[in-house]
Amino acid sequence: MDASRETTAERLLDWYDVNARTLPWRAPPGTPAPDPYRVWLSEVMLQQTTVAAVKEYFAKFIRLWPSVADLAAAPDEEVMAAWAGLGYYARARNLLACAREVAARGGTFPETEAELRTLPGLGPYTAAAVAAIAFGARAVVVDANVERVVSRLFAIEIPLPASRPEIRERTEEITPDARAGDFAQAMMDLGSGICTVREPKCLLCPLSDTCAARASGDPARLPVKAPKKAKPTRTGRAFWIETRIAGEDHVWLVRRAGKGMLGGMRALPDDGWAARQDGHGEDLAQGPWEPAGRVSHVFSHFALDLRLAIHAGASPPQDLGEGEWWPLEKLDEAGLPTLFAKAARLALAHTGEDA
Ligand code: ADE
Ligand code: SF4
Repeated sequence: MDASRETTAERLLDWYDVNARTLPWRAPPGTPAPDPYRVWLSEVMLQQTTVAAVKEYFAKFIRLWPSVADLAAAPDEEVMAAWAGLGYYARARNLLACAREVAARGGTFPETEAELRTLPGLGPYTAAAVAAIAFGARAVVVDANVERVVSRLFAIEIPLPASRPEIRERTEEITPDARAGDFAQAMMDLGSGICTVREPKCLLCPLSDTCAARASGDPARLPVKAPKKAKPTRTGRAFWIETRIAGEDHVWLVRRAGKGMLGGMRALPDDGWAARQDGHGEDLAQGPWEPAGRVSHVFSHFALDLRLAIHAGASPPQDLGEGEWWPLEKLDEAGLPTLFAKAARLALAHTGEDA
């Protein structure tokens, strides 16, 4: 049997009409498309991040900035702080750049995939997803869920990522002219709930009759993946310096350079570790420094082993450079990315204060 265009899309859309997940950025199946701003915002957040993690951030962004014009007018620091914890911070910088570009063009998103591609941060995936979901365009939307479902439907044996061109072609073949946005989201829902990485639930799958992987008896074997390169481990140090100002405890925070790892985010000062190099290992300023343990954190291309040094002098060093004394009381409003939030918890545990 072959998974011809009509039958696959029709069966999937019928399934979606009954089984679509209800998500805050979605319109129910078959109803008018949601606000393109919400579609775009959610799709940017959902890259590299799970639906469960995105829900809370999406709600916060919509509450703070209900329209693309509101987001465009927001100060950089507030947007970066609101993004803290979602990771892949280049997305937040591009998000702001894109909102400002859309605002400058009159406040409405362009409708075609090609025009969407000209906006900051909109790669092939996001442009296709927004074109299909917000504007009903027949765009071919391929995320990791779709890659898995299509690899199985057509029993593609070439390992990922080399199989991507074939997966794209096959997805294009089964994408319908109408309801392309529902179709894309139906594929995502099938991939996340039925055609799961381990133990796909083929008995519940609307596409099982024509699925080549199912016919082969071991669908979970696909997609084949090329072995991953081992990630290098970098080492670095972060510094925790407290002082009392007007009877309140404060900690020294810096803002990271606009580009590069965690760019634009508020942070603890550190010794210059980066994706391609260890930190220089030297003290930030005059000590004494007391070791307070280490934090491990895994980024997309490397793992970091960050040792924390707490300033143990009677008064803070004088030569700290650019930064600010931040009240410990309000540390959870500083918008620290997860790595530094972990380090801060370690420091507070060490100094006996509450996190
Ligand atoms: N992942 C990426 N985009 C999504 C969407 N629109 N719905 C559910 N999961 C997604
Ligand atoms: Fe996935 Fe099984 Fe459905 Fe094939 S039949 S698409 S392997 S859930």
